[in-house]
Amino acid sequence: MTVRLFFILMKAEFETRVDAWNRYWKGGHGDTCFHQGDVFSLRRDWVGFFSELPASARILDLATGNGALPLIAAEVSREMSLGFSITGVDFAVPTPELVADIDTSLLDCISFVGSTPLETMELDEAGFDAVTSQFGFEYSDARRSIPRIAKLMAPGCKLRFLIHSHGGSVFKSTEQRCGRIKQLLAKDQLFDVCRRLGRFNPRDPASLAKTQKLERRFNAKLKSLRAKTTDLPPDDVSVYAMNYVEQLVQSRSYAPPDEWRKALNDLSDELNDYVIRLNGMLRAAQKDADMKRLVTSFEEAGLEDVSYQPALQNQNDVGWIFLATKR
Ligand SMILES: C[S@@+](CC[C@H](N)C(=O)[O-])C[C@H]1O[C@@H](n2cnc3c(N)ncnc32)[C@H](O)[C@@H]1O
Repeated sequence: MTVRLFFILMKAEFETRVDAWNRYWKGGHGDTCFHQGDVFSLRRDWVGFFSELPASARILDLATGNGALPLIAAEVSREMSLGFSITGVDFAVPTPELVADIDTSLLDCISFVGSTPLETMELDEAGFDAVTSQFGFEYSDARRSIPRIAKLMAPGCKLRFLIHSHGGSVFKSTEQRCGRIKQLLAKDQLFDVCRRLGRFNPRDPASLAKTQKLERRFNAKLKSLRAKTTDLPPDDVSVYAMNYVEQLVQSRSYAPPDEWRKALNDLSDELNDYVIRLNGMLRAAQKDADMKRLVTSFEEAGLEDVSYQPALQNQNDVGWIFLATKR
């Protein structure tokens, strides 16, 4: 592979990741804290952290998404009259205004800086008093992002990250969710058979035998997949996807072919992006040895009191808490 081709592929891969996150945030999601399909929140811990910051603190939230942490900080600021100013950075484009049920007046003290990878970020302002990240920093290339982060911190600046952990229960459930979707999208599996069915005109008697054979194959695959997923909640993405393609197959005889194909392609695109995001999470997850290396890297970048511990939620290991202070 030539160097040029290598960089073209890297750029394409980077853009695919950004697109996958843009799709998620544009979908109006507020955050990404899931455990086995249930949303969890470490809100109370974050409220505790923000409440201890001084008045007029300047807070930088890394890989902010739709601003889950900035919104908590803004609420604390309002309730305690602390006058925080908050900046949220992400390589995707945050769209917090699309999140249902948020108090949009909280956005007044938050600036979102999108299209900004942590590895190359340069902000107009520096001297932050607190730097936070919830399942974000670890997605970046730490070798390149840590010096950038350290440069933006004022002396005494507090850093608090919630980091994906490798092997914990969130990690395992993510592996399973990712595996289920990959199976649906694999060659000769549900989506593939559905797509092949879509190539035939359901009213054409000449293709009847072929389509009936494909339908039997589709139904057998669906039955076997459903048997493996009986314990999943109906809002699990794989259950939703199976129900959706089943309806598509049933609607072949009356749905306009272009709309039918578009519906199938749109869902495949959604699911491919979902797999990209889940794979990203699995790659970002840190083992204990990785955390030890992070401690060293942050110390070398001029931080002190660097420590980490497991983050537990209902006795489930949902990540690592990483703490440090700028010298
Ligand atoms: C799991 S989400 C967490 C978002 C948010 N912190 C929250 O708690 O909802 C990960 C975020 O990291 C962002 N991201 C991933 N890699 C990044 C990078 N290298 N630079 C900046 N943002 C990145 C993604 O766009 C996504 O918004």
